[in-house]
Amino acid sequence: MINIGIIGFGTVGTGTAKILIGNRDIISRRAGFDINLKRIADVDIKRDRGIKLAKGVLTTDAEKILNDPEIDIVVELIGGKRPAKDFILKAIRNKKHVVTANKALLATEGNGIFAEAEKYGVEIGFEASVAGGIPIIKVIREGLIANRIMAVYGIINGTSNYILTKMTDEGIEFSGALKEAQRLGYAEADPTFDIEGIDSAHKLAILASLAYNIPLSFDEIYKEGITRITSQDIEFAGELGYKIKLLAIAKASDGKVELRVHPTMVPKDYLISKVDGVFNAIYVNGDAVGDTLYYGRGAGDMPTGSSIVSDIVDIARNIKKGATGRIPGIGSVKGAGLKIKNIEEIEAMYYFRFSAYDKPGVLSKVSGVLGKYNISIASVIQKGRKVGEAVPLIVLAHRARERDVAKAVAEIDKLPVVADKTLYIRVEGREE
Ligand code: HSE
Repeated sequence: MINIGIIGFGTVGTGTAKILIGNRDIISRRAGFDINLKRIADVDIKRDRGIKLAKGVLTTDAEKILNDPEIDIVVELIGGKRPAKDFILKAIRNKKHVVTANKALLATEGNGIFAEAEKYGVEIGFEASVAGGIPIIKVIREGLIANRIMAVYGIINGTSNYILTKMTDEGIEFSGALKEAQRLGYAEADPTFDIEGIDSAHKLAILASLAYNIPLSFDEIYKEGITRITSQDIEFAGELGYKIKLLAIAKASDGKVELRVHPTMVPKDYLISKVDGVFNAIYVNGDAVGDTLYYGRGAGDMPTGSSIVSDIVDIARNIKKGATGRIPGIGSVKGAGLKIKNIEEIEAMYYFRFSAYDKPGVLSKVSGVLGKYNISIASVIQKGRKVGEAVPLIVLAHRARERDVAKAVAEIDKLPVVADKTLYIRVEGREE
């Protein structure tokens, strides 16, 4: 028998306990041994979570898990950085294996935590830290081990995908869609991490470290959220044949890695464009396998619990066979020394929304600056007439360099015919 202790009896803790108890028979049959949920620690052990636990399982004292010599695996599900990190380090130093969904902690402080786990010869399972129920960690680390990973593109934040979907389907603005997401419990009262691309970047740091054998590099990821996207941008993107999605992108190019999170225009007919609502999807291209796509629920008690239990069983199997550490953690695979590109070094196609006064000669002034920086126009949309007032001027450009785009936009924003700051969206997919 393998004994488990869970610290944190919130949404994911409850889902994990439900699965460990409700599916104990099938899990034990598949594993070939029993997995026993011995203890759950939480500050609140009074609230009814709709789950029947044996007497003595619940405790308010995490030390009862961390110091219990019978507990083999500690599952950290309190989230946040402290005291989660203290609990994880204590578990490691007490030679307990750890399973966690804590993407923010791993992405920012994981290099040290994984090094400590290696020193003490214990495993850290983190399948649930990225894309909830989708087993994407296993896919990249095991299923696609044969491949050089060319690119990973993911919709890995359900909250922002819900907001963009709502804006697309109902033509409403960002603030209204955010309110609806908050009402339904898809967005927190402080939604910053989700809408500013930070949560996606936490997850991308983890995926990229596995795909490219680089240290966790959260700080070096370019991050841009969805707050400046308007329903008009979504409509124009639609006219041009695209959907707007918040993508997390890791891509190998010119012997370097691009790591970026930003709103992205993706051709409407791509499968990833059809991933709507709170769902997640990750596209992985490997040199041997080609294109692959993984789709499912990226959050929630039971989907995330599904990944937590998968890690528990993996580690338990390794314990039983005396094979812990069989699959290396982050940082223990020697990398190829790939450098991370600065955002200025990337190339993409671009959508521009200029806010220009509606008068003769404006287009030529704007396109003149674009031309000066080698940015070639693919199409232009301007609708409506409001003489003397600012109207959106939409330009879709062929492949260009970000450095040039940034310079051109800075210059265009100073033109007297331009009324407001230009918005630009990177476009992925085939060049039309
Ligand atoms: N807010 C996150 C999301 C939760 O929407 O994906 C799961 O990490």
